[in-house]
Amino acid sequence: MPIFNKKTDSKPMELPTHIAIIMDGNGRWAKKRGLPRTAGHKVGAEAFRTIANYAKSIGLKYLTVYAFSTENWKRSQEEVNTIMELLEKYLRELLRDMDKNRVRFCFFGDLSRLSPTLRAEAEETAERSKQYDGVQVNFCLNYGGRDEILRAARSFAAKCAAGEARPEELTDEVFSGLLYSAGVPDPDLIIRPSGEERISNFLLWQSAYAEYYFTDTLWPDFGPRDLDLAIEAYNKRSRRFGGVK
Ligand code: IPE
Ligand code: IPE
Ligand code: MG
Repeated sequence: MPIFNKKTDSKPMELPTHIAIIMDGNGRWAKKRGLPRTAGHKVGAEAFRTIANYAKSIGLKYLTVYAFSTENWKRSQEEVNTIMELLEKYLRELLRDMDKNRVRFCFFGDLSRLSPTLRAEAEETAERSKQYDGVQVNFCLNYGGRDEILRAARSFAAKCAAGEARPEELTDEVFSGLLYSAGVPDPDLIIRPSGEERISNFLLWQSAYAEYYFTDTLWPDFGPRDLDLAIEAYNKRSRRFGGVK
């Protein structure tokens, strides 16, 4: 039974609308076992599969996961290649099992730098899964928060230069609508496993009032019970959004 279905003394546990996860710790998981880092990425992909299914089963509306950052290209060619191959395999399986899983997929990030195969798979996955209305998974691939903000700023500047918009028309809502996350509510809870306590260029604009949850568990070991614990911790927070409660 998911933990948030438990009744606390006064009120039932609240499920956040949008949970975002920085899937970190694959390399250390592998190192601890004397395995190559890539072995950690393989098990990390399975952890994602489990969490996505669990998120669907508990009725979560949005799950955003950070899979590859704009900075991750700095890694060895071998590691990057293996991650990309794993992603291709993963999306192929996703496309194969789509009717069974019924998860809606969106991709946040600059897909133009990916291989044509991976890009085509991502586009097909997003297009074909539009029809499903269970959990929406936003898969961040070659994603960077600064890159996202810069693109939005450039696109608005271009509209101004073309005489299609005026600078004073740029509001919070208009700007949000220019991001990869257009139409998706801001995350309520951002989880980072692996013991690191930093944001690493993830959802910089959208995280303005997110609650953070850090855990030492490495991503490949992260399971439904860990998600329950994060939701339980979230329920103990007092969100004030700058007001008084
Ligand atoms: C996260 O795990 C996966 C990616 C960034 C692609 P890491 O590969 O960063 O694992 P650690 O942080 O080295 O343990
Ligand atoms: C953040 O993890 C990116 C992803 C999990 C995809 P990193 O491992 O790249 O972050 P740093 O280098 O520890 O900040
Ligand atoms: Mg890492």
